[in-house]
Amino acid sequence: MARILLLHGPNLNMLGRREPTVYGRQTLADIETAAKQLAGELGVEIESFQSNAEGDLVTRIQQAPERFDAIVFNPGAYTHTSVALRDAVLSVGLPVVEVHLSNVHKREEFRRHSFLADVVEGQILGFGADSYLLGLRAAVSLLRSRRPVPPRARPARKRTTR
Ligand code: DQA
Repeated sequence: MARILLLHGPNLNMLGRREPTVYGRQTLADIETAAKQLAGELGVEIESFQSNAEGDLVTRIQQAPERFDAIVFNPGAYTHTSVALRDAVLSVGLPVVEVHLSNVHKREEFRRHSFLADVVEGQILGFGADSYLLGLRAAVSLLRSRRPVPPRARPARKRTTR
């Protein structure tokens, strides 16, 4: 079964209380619950990790290939500042889907640049908490398009008797 890491950067632990007009009222725990349910429907496993520390996020990305097949990543404000996170993504070669709750292009100028944009598979932004669910669907569809169908999923071959 494919395993996907949901990775959340700084201040995303404050969702629900933090600028609700921009980010909505759902907490990170609400988002994780919805993502777990979707993961079950899609037949994948997910694990979620949030940190306010850039180095911790770098370490999680570095360790990800040992246990995960893809990452759905909201780097928060580090999106706009972090060469270290960009380098970490490049160093592992796992498919990464970048997600944002808000449409960063409708906001301040400094949010328009992402250091990750050209090293991730794609970006999903502006759909609130649903950005994570769409990101999860995108990661699963990417993995399915890359992976060969496992033998047990193929119809059994008829045995010929002599
Ligand atoms: C964010 C957008 C970033 O600009 C901001 O710093 C965040 C959240 C989003 O999900 O919309 O922390 O990544």
